[in-house]
Amino acid sequence: MAQSLANSVFEEDKQFIAPLYGKANIEFVRGEGSYLFDKNGKKYLDFVAGIAVNALGHQNVAIKKAVEEQMDSFFHISNLYPNYPQVNLAKALLAATGFDKAFFCNSGTEANEGCIKFARKYFDRKGEKNRQKIVTFINSFHGRTFAALSATGQPAIREGFGSMPGDFVHVPWNDVAALKAEVNSDTCAIMLESLAAEGGVMTVSDEMVAAINSLKKEFGCLVIVDEVQAGMGRLGTFLGLQKHGIDADLVSLAKALGGGLPLGAVLLRQKVADQLKAGDHGTTFGGNPVACAVGLAVVNQIAKPEFLANVEARSAQLKAGLETIAAKFPAVKGVRGEGLILGLALDESLPVGNVIAAARDEGMMVLSAKGNVLRLLPPLNVSAAECDEALTKLEKAFAKVAK
Ligand SMILES: Cc1ncc(COP(=O)(O)O)c(C=O)c1O
Repeated sequence: MAQSLANSVFEEDKQFIAPLYGKANIEFVRGEGSYLFDKNGKKYLDFVAGIAVNALGHQNVAIKKAVEEQMDSFFHISNLYPNYPQVNLAKALLAATGFDKAFFCNSGTEANEGCIKFARKYFDRKGEKNRQKIVTFINSFHGRTFAALSATGQPAIREGFGSMPGDFVHVPWNDVAALKAEVNSDTCAIMLESLAAEGGVMTVSDEMVAAINSLKKEFGCLVIVDEVQAGMGRLGTFLGLQKHGIDADLVSLAKALGGGLPLGAVLLRQKVADQLKAGDHGTTFGGNPVACAVGLAVVNQIAKPEFLANVEARSAQLKAGLETIAAKFPAVKGVRGEGLILGLALDESLPVGNVIAAARDEGMMVLSAKGNVLRLLPPLNVSAAECDEALTKLEKAFAKVAK
């Protein structure tokens, strides 16, 4: 049954919330595991997962327990005082990744701002003030604050916001020659996502990884890997860079890290941390104790080999099913992605919005990525049966809208 719009949350949203998002006319009232339920009791398989945030699904028991336990001691004390929620999460993250220090913030864009500031400060303290240039990629997405926006390789979302922080250059994704032409002894950092998710679910090529690692050796620049969407187990390894062998100095994390609470992190190599001092950077809320307690519960789950093995197994299952769908519907140009960021590239005869709407009618939430790509971001603990259900629902959706 279609929901009435009168006196609804849609009307009130329009009236009271700044008009910055294209929102669906749907009112969710409850989540459970891999499912969401709307006001009318309709059940949806949630393959959006809060845009890669709900890696453990909805109402995860370990997350709820962590929230409750931390709320019983304190919600917030500021970064003026050391506290175990932060220290314990840092230890777990560093153990899972091999990095040396953690900085906590609240979001992906803030984590990327942190990476950019730490990289620039590193060279400044070393007396290499010429090293300002950060080379990033066309169609990348690093966030909406000014430096992260400047790093983002999508000019359309910078339009109208005036001057941007300088010295960001963008080269085509996986174009080794273009990258080599831009990196030199003035380069501060090469910055990339371990999988370009928003930009169209584009995996990084082995040649690009080899080029990045060798340019770093040749010119002594830093490498920043944005793991905000692709990290935290989504590619089947704890960090995407571990899967691809990217030799990183700084990593940004957010989304799944907080299990639904706002939490971001920068992971640093010791040599970078050694060049930072108290006062160089900071945040009031970053590393909130409740969010960090949840972060620890999330990391403890995701770092388990059997958890990551499920990501790989479900990825293989979904990919095989998506290939079958692609073979049935000529409007599907191909299957993209790895781990549990998967995409179907569609041709111009089939706008991705039509598939999203049809899937929703079937009781399944999916989203898009740049370039008319259908994107799937299931919870990472999704089951084999739920993946079969997803493939059945998607096929029905395509049957309705694909010519
Ligand atoms: C790769 C990547 N980096 C950064 C961001 C920005 O994160 P946030 O929206 O938490 O600021 C996103 C958000 O989609 C992202 O996908």
